[in-house]
Amino acid sequence: MKVPQHVAIILDGNGRWAKAKGMPRNYGHAQGSKNVERICEEAWKMGIKYLTVYAFSTENWNRPKDEVDALMKLLRSYMKTCLKTAAKNDMKIRVIGDKSRLDQDIRDRIDELEKATVNNGGLSFQIAINYGSRDEIVRAVRRLAQDCVDGKQTASEINEEILESYLDTHDIPDPDLMIRTSGELRLSNYLLWQLAYTEFYFTDVPWPDFSKEELEKAILQYNARDRRYGGVKEEPQNV
Ligand code: IPE
Ligand code: IPE
Ligand code: MG
Repeated sequence: MKVPQHVAIILDGNGRWAKAKGMPRNYGHAQGSKNVERICEEAWKMGIKYLTVYAFSTENWNRPKDEVDALMKLLRSYMKTCLKTAAKNDMKIRVIGDKSRLDQDIRDRIDELEKATVNNGGLSFQIAINYGSRDEIVRAVRRLAQDCVDGKQTASEINEEILESYLDTHDIPDPDLMIRTSGELRLSNYLLWQLAYTEFYFTDVPWPDFSKEELEKAILQYNARDRRYGGVKEEPQNV
């Protein structure tokens, strides 16, 4: 079986999962965060090299303040656990998104986590926090425009590769497979540039229930896809 090199996940459905159990939404977030750790381990065991998860979108600030506060609290404690698991699993962490809107203590923890794991050779794990794809592109273009003003870039020479190098995901290959849990069939501003040729897999399973077996199902379906990049399928040569 062909294992995708890079899997991107929109981990959705924490709230609905909790509600169905008669529990508060924040309980769903706590269980969802535990599941992120489990899936990181399973993904690496399966041979996945890059995993990118959507933890908090630029639009998620529109949620009720107590839910946003609970999510930030969870992120704080997740960063701590992650520092330990990353040391154990040799995981390399990068946070993508606009960190400037996050509280200083969270930014410090992110810096610590990124610095401590930068030379690790295990799973490359990207966490999207205060991430929105349109925002990412705007931030990239802003820096690129400034570099043109400063004479470091030439407008007429800008190409896809140069623009890409300004994105939060620079140096990370595009996802091969994108999974969204819990039934919604949209991208919600996730990796719009990077997903240009990615295979999509949608499942009704809510994120806290998304297990190793569910990941295997997604990979199995990915294997059944006829991947093309604008060309015709390469048929094996008859000799
Ligand atoms: C995903 O679960 C986690 C975050 C967006 C932080 P949701 O909170 O979106 O759960 P539902 O979609 O409302 O069930
Ligand atoms: C997308 O989920 C963002 C994350 C998973 C962090 P949402 O639940 O916020 O997306 P919408 O609002 O249903 O599009
Ligand atoms: Mg949701």
